[in-house]
Amino acid sequence: GLPARVRIHEVGPRDGLQNESVALPIEVKAEFIGRLAQAGLRTVEATSFVHPKWVPQLADAEELFPRVAELPRQYPGLRLPVLVPNERGLDRALALGATDIAVFGSATETFASRNLNRTVAESLEMFAPVVHRATESGLTVRGYLSMCFGDPWEGPVAAEQVVAVGKALLDLGCAELSLGDTIGTGTPGQVEALLGAFAAAGVGPERLAVHFHDTYGQALANTLAALRCGVSVVDASAGGLGGCPYAKSATGNLATEDLVWMLHGLGIETGVDLPSLAATSQWLAGHLGRPSPSRAVRALVGP
Ligand code: HMG
Ligand code: MG
Repeated sequence: GLPARVRIHEVGPRDGLQNESVALPIEVKAEFIGRLAQAGLRTVEATSFVHPKWVPQLADAEELFPRVAELPRQYPGLRLPVLVPNERGLDRALALGATDIAVFGSATETFASRNLNRTVAESLEMFAPVVHRATESGLTVRGYLSMCFGDPWEGPVAAEQVVAVGKALLDLGCAELSLGDTIGTGTPGQVEALLGAFAAAGVGPERLAVHFHDTYGQALANTLAALRCGVSVVDASAGGLGGCPYAKSATGNLATEDLVWMLHGLGIETGVDLPSLAATSQWLAGHLGRPSPSRAVRALVGP
């Protein structure tokens, strides 16, 4: 059966914006996060504490985070996770009082090298003290795993390889593992097969989230396949923004509005007010200078 409720892990302010070449004003970013909270989202990935030269759009993390850090007072239950690749990133996040972080690994060597300048094994070594120290400080740690289905340089990725790195991230102490279809090539049969491989290795759907990019229009179908396998945490990006600057052909994430339309249609609770969310994406599209790629946004509020 399907879950009664899905927790949406909103990645718009991070995955959505990280690929934008023109820097958005910090006021717009802060307002974006506030509006997402107001629309009912309760997990909003705010920014990344990565090397500023690697992701220039998020180089303002030190200035942005304090502007949104008080939002959970206004919106009880709101979590504002941030991406942290290494101890330097963790120090920055801790200094600002972050309570939720995410490390981000790769199932493939090529992407690990391009995105983290490390081998897969070296990146796990880099994450180990981050997860350890963060957990000891009482933070919640999520692990992302990229290239779970296809890799632009290596082609299809074997499920055993994905399960091996995914288990390693969980063994480090990550509370949740988000399976990323970074370039959006996966299809529902592969989703079922991968979740089955995790289950066979002792990792049930309650520890997993799914993170689909909609490059080939498969994100919603893949999400439904994952829900049927028992997953109830789904990553999405308001308005369908997004992509990874270090993954060739990575385009937009699953649009949060498209996801909410499907979930509400299935009678699954999200807590999200769809008109308010669509209006937010339309407002942001104005700042980015182009219409939202989300079908639901266009249907609800026009281009
Ligand atoms: P590196 O060049 O190997 O770094 O990059 P290093 O450890 O050799 O350090 C070099 C210098 O950078 C040092 O400074 C460090 O202090 C500094 P120096 O001593 O030379 O003056 N440095 C930092 N400064 C600020 N903050 C930091 C930091 N770390 C080092 N955190 C590194 C390694 C991991 C830092 C780099 O590769 C990096 O920042 N990568 C981030 C890439 C990224 O953010 N990609 C997008 C997110 S992943 C994604 O989008 C996929 C996802 O959505 C899921 C999916 O769709 O699949 C999550
Ligand atoms: Mg992504």
